[in-house]
Amino acid sequence: MLKFFFFNAVHLSGTKYGCGVGGCGACTVMISTYDPVTKHRPANSCLFPICSLHGAAVTTVEEVGSIKPRIHTIQERLAKCNGSQCGFCTPGKVMSIYALLRNHAEPSMEKIIAALDGRFQTVNWLVIGAACCLAQLRDILMKAVPKLAEEKTKIYQAFLQHLRTLAGEQMRSMASLGGHIVSRASTRELNPISSVGKSVLNLASEDGKRQILLNDQFLAGCEHADLKAKEVIVSVLIPYSMKDDFISAFRQAESQKNALSIVNSGMRILFSPGTDTIVDLSILYGGIGSTILSARKSCEKLIGRQWNDQMLNEACRLVLEEIFLPPSALGRKVEYRRTLLVSFLFRFYLEVLHGSDNIALTSPSLQYPFRCAELSQEKMSALGMLQSGIAQGVQIYQLRCVCRQPPQDPVGRPIMHQSGIKHTTGEEVYIDDIRPVDGELSLALVTNIKAHTKIMSINASEALQVPGVVDVVTARDVPGENGKDEQAYAEDKVFLASGGVVCVGQIICAVVAVKIVYEDLEPILTIEVTICLLFNNRFRILELEYLLDHRREDKEMDVYVSTQHATDVQVKQTLNLQYNKIMCHMKCVGGAFGGKITKPLLFAVIAAVAANKTGHAVCFALERNMDMLITGRWHPFFGKYKVGFMNDGRIRAADFQCYINGGCTKDEFESVSPSLIPLIGQCIYILNLLVRGHACKTNLPSNTAFRGFEFPQAGLFVETCIVAVATQTDLPHEKVREINMYKRVNLTSFKEKFDAENLWKCWEECLDKPDYYSKKKGIAIIPMKFSVGFNATYFHQVTSSNQSLVHIYIDGSVLVTHGGIELGQGIHTKMSHRELKIPLSYIHLCETSTTTVTSGKYTAGSTGTEINARAVQDVCQILWKHLDPIQRDNPNGKWEDWISEGHKQSTSLSATGYFKGYVTNMNQDTEKGHAFPYFRFGVSCSENIGTDIVMDACFTINPAIDIGQIEGAFIQGVGLYTLEEIFFSPEGEQLTLGPDTYKIPAICDIPEQFCVYLLPNSCNSIAIYSSKGVGEARFFLGSSVFFAIQDAVAAARKERGLPMDFTPNSPLTVERICMACDDVFTEMVRLFSSLL
Ligand SMILES: Cc1cc2nc3c(=O)[nH]c(=O)nc-3n(C[C@H](O)[C@H](O)[C@H](O)COP(=O)(O)OP(=O)(O)OC[C@H]3O[C@@H](n4cnc5c(N)ncnc54)[C@H](O)[C@@H]3O)c2cc1C
Ligand code: FES
Repeated sequence: MLKFFFFNAVHLSGTKYGCGVGGCGACTVMISTYDPVTKHRPANSCLFPICSLHGAAVTTVEEVGSIKPRIHTIQERLAKCNGSQCGFCTPGKVMSIYALLRNHAEPSMEKIIAALDGRFQTVNWLVIGAACCLAQLRDILMKAVPKLAEEKTKIYQAFLQHLRTLAGEQMRSMASLGGHIVSRASTRELNPISSVGKSVLNLASEDGKRQILLNDQFLAGCEHADLKAKEVIVSVLIPYSMKDDFISAFRQAESQKNALSIVNSGMRILFSPGTDTIVDLSILYGGIGSTILSARKSCEKLIGRQWNDQMLNEACRLVLEEIFLPPSALGRKVEYRRTLLVSFLFRFYLEVLHGSDNIALTSPSLQYPFRCAELSQEKMSALGMLQSGIAQGVQIYQLRCVCRQPPQDPVGRPIMHQSGIKHTTGEEVYIDDIRPVDGELSLALVTNIKAHTKIMSINASEALQVPGVVDVVTARDVPGENGKDEQAYAEDKVFLASGGVVCVGQIICAVVAVKIVYEDLEPILTIEVTICLLFNNRFRILELEYLLDHRREDKEMDVYVSTQHATDVQVKQTLNLQYNKIMCHMKCVGGAFGGKITKPLLFAVIAAVAANKTGHAVCFALERNMDMLITGRWHPFFGKYKVGFMNDGRIRAADFQCYINGGCTKDEFESVSPSLIPLIGQCIYILNLLVRGHACKTNLPSNTAFRGFEFPQAGLFVETCIVAVATQTDLPHEKVREINMYKRVNLTSFKEKFDAENLWKCWEECLDKPDYYSKKKGIAIIPMKFSVGFNATYFHQVTSSNQSLVHIYIDGSVLVTHGGIELGQGIHTKMSHRELKIPLSYIHLCETSTTTVTSGKYTAGSTGTEINARAVQDVCQILWKHLDPIQRDNPNGKWEDWISEGHKQSTSLSATGYFKGYVTNMNQDTEKGHAFPYFRFGVSCSENIGTDIVMDACFTINPAIDIGQIEGAFIQGVGLYTLEEIFFSPEGEQLTLGPDTYKIPAICDIPEQFCVYLLPNSCNSIAIYSSKGVGEARFFLGSSVFFAIQDAVAAARKERGLPMDFTPNSPLTVERICMACDDVFTEMVRLFSSLL
């Protein structure tokens, strides 16, 4: 594939590799061909075969612009407007926009959004070359439709409807119409429409040419209707629709765009002229079975019937009978998919009624097909197209820079991310971009394929015979301890399994094709068989690679790793080496969010063992599916509550029972479950509170404390209780929240004193913004109180000793290193350059490394910046003490003069700085002590078109970066609470292992109106420069979208007189929303199922 050619053959590393299956867009390049219609198109280089590039030119991000000689305007604007965070997929975005601009000098906003979502020629209007890509097909149809009589274009319009949402622009630019048709998979959405539209395939082979129908039998793969061996599709004839035709296309996916459909359909009907009598009817469904299915028998039975409500009822019954989905059907969501079968039918029924009514009104002379009574407003509302508008963002913050602040002082200014330009040019070097060293070996993992087994033997002989295989690394090759790292939570973690194996995905050995003989043991997969999971999400990190270079001299080892915790990846115990022999280097990490705290240890250790055994450098990069299989996810959470409350909504007592699915090893759940207790209080004061946390061991991969350290789960749980109390008392939700919220100076349930004034300021400000009280349904306002850091001083000692190192060179330039790792959160940009009182251009921040900072802890808990900044502040103050006498002797001198003089006088121009960390010392048993350094507050209000966030960020060090973090965390939260669902088979095998099955938010999921407002005039005496850590907390605010949807569902249920005590689970996906609404279609499907 093209992507590998760039790296291996022409040594270009600007194009990144995120998923390898066309789902993320990180690898986008521009392909240019000579074609009068489209000259340039974006394409996923991870899926682009080099052999298909004959006659084409390829442009990568390096060609668009680089720091030398010049960057392109797109790159400059993206960087300067803070359009990147970790920057890993930014080159892909640049390429998408670049390809768009090469085709359209002034693209519309719609085109820009479409571009960011994610050979042939035409013979005449209606015959499309089979090699034509889907983007070309769309462009052709868009030009053709306005030129044709409307009645001829119904099928083309149905095509266009799908082509707006089908995959991303890169994929549409690559996938050919012929490939789409021939692959015939059930999710190929253009096929049902092509079939109902009676398309014809023009075939050719050495035996000659012929035509076949693209009908249901072709799509089902029936031999008599199929291509013969060696036959190819040359072109596809898509006929005009007829005057009497009605054709519609439907799809429902997890997400509006760039997601395979759950069910799709094409429907066509023909009436006897002037009547509503059905003459011909075709209905095809995709997404139900392995191929596209036709409701042929149902359609035949309906011929001759009139188009009315009775016919619709009969049609629904017939379709449900014919398109049968057994409860165990592939793809799950059985009841939902059945519901979609009939709800598409209902919508088609309405569309036909409405369409014929329109024709009758606008062209009475046509007298066709019939005129029905005008549709009720309620039915008309079902015909509305859900189409999001152009997203608009507003960011409001107070600049604290007072006139006395020197111009070189960056604190409080919206300064561009220091790597912003490198992100957009692709010049930022992630681990995967490091060039291979001589003799470097690649490593692949062999993982367990059964949930609970015992390894009887490992036979590597076959693998060792495969050409290129050098060795196979198993538990026997670990010279030191195979697990049991110093961290409490890694206690039972074994790096390479040798005996019992406890989940699918557990690592058995490194390298390939090893025969493993198993003895089956009984797996436990869920917290309780009867308990359904409230949470079932994982996180997504695009970049996760490790490279290990082994130096044989003096048994030193260099580890280049993508981690949030360098000390953890020191592989001392495993190799029986001293820490001073292991050098860990972290230049920049492509996103992490907690997922790269403990897991990288596992991978680094295996690579280290392999390097130790083979004596070669070892490179190890996880493929996306392997990453998703091994690294775990947010802890699935199940909560039970008992709440005592008054009629006015005041909660007097609560008993919360929390269960988290910890998976097969302790990993992080030992530290996560005690955290639940302080986190669960959220913003409400409960006089009598009992919280019990249970960590459950199951035969699933162990999990990790992703952004928020269980707060996203605990917060949602508590807010769910509030909604339940509001429902029971029939009070508005916000009133119940207000009456229970902490007021003024308070003690939390764990006796931590805090002032709730800023929480209330955020609340009131947010209530004002979207004109909250005028909205009746589908709205939610959610407050947040989140603690910074960890409830243990040990974890805060990010800077426990020697945590920053500053060198001043004799030309006055300065090199700063500190213990914080750049994860895209802008930590290097935010470091306290203020202290040296010199322009930013003098300062360089290099990699984070255990050679400069020896015992750093996690860059996590939203404290990375403030704690490392304190250490840098400390070292700068030490250096100023060294320079003080020199400056006093020459007060009018410049920085360079003082440094030069300092050098002459043998003054030390290097120093180390230190910050002990915040003191937190809560004793869980006595409930005494100080649990957290301080709290952050925020409120978010979401309704159907927009979200307003008010945050108490105090005096932010860099508002541009902080607001980016707030927006990013919010959208990530929306993904957690509404999209990111994970499934396991009954055997414990994870079924959601890539972007096609696991959906994360895309550009279409950004609120149409998105306003972030930082509370002005707020101070924080604890953190450096009166700032407050941002990052994790805002994530929970994404739950306002969850509760807004819940509110809309409640309104729908109320209208139907259904009970209001329903509890939607997270993620509140389209399936769960539909099933929670419990409408006539879900009812019909349940009734039908019960009769089977
Ligand atoms: C990330 C991603 C997202 C997607 N999302 C969607 C979506 O939302 N909706 C949707 O409907 N589809 C989606 N698709 C599928 C996509 O639309 C294409 O159908 C698919 O990629 C196949 O097209 P291709 O050109 O890559 O075919 P190929 O893989 O090149 O071909 C498929 C098969 O057809 C054969 N073939 C190709 N051309 C001819 C010909 N002219 N004559 C005879 N045989 C031929 C090939 O030999 C091969 O066996 C997605 C695909 C990806 C990778
Ligand atoms: S790496 Fe190619 S699309 Fe993700």
